[in-house]
Amino acid sequence: MSNFEPEIVAFCCHYCAYTAADMAGTRRISYPSNVKIIRVPCTGKVDAIHLMKALEKGADGVYVAGCLEGDCHFKDGNVHAAAHVESIKKTLETLGWEPERVAMMRFSAGMGEKFAQAATEFTEKIKALGPSPVSQATSKAV
Ligand code: FES
Repeated sequence: MSNFEPEIVAFCCHYCAYTAADMAGTRRISYPSNVKIIRVPCTGKVDAIHLMKALEKGADGVYVAGCLEGDCHFKDGNVHAAAHVESIKKTLETLGWEPERVAMMRFSAGMGEKFAQAATEFTEKIKALGPSPVSQATSKAV
């Protein structure tokens, strides 16, 4: 499906990933507008239910972007987030979905270019997978 434009939700921690996204913007490093950023105080605040809700509401891909390992401002929020991402991947597999629709990423505040590159690569990956089962069901119902 060549003209498929995925909806992607990125939960970004305020301290690192969001700042990296902001840096990409100020340096005019572009990344796909498919990626909708939700700023959270720490990725430790992102629970499995938030990831499932985003998918249920029609996101074709979801990722959690936090600080580098050992740099979480709330000690180990990014470790908990990574565990939630892994558990959702297993749940998606059980449901027959591609687990690659969910990912964990880590950035420092200065990694604007890397943030943009990762957002672009993730968008391309989701484009290749096609619409999520929820998106497909919704578009058939319309
Ligand atoms: Fe960034 Fe916790 S503050 S992941």
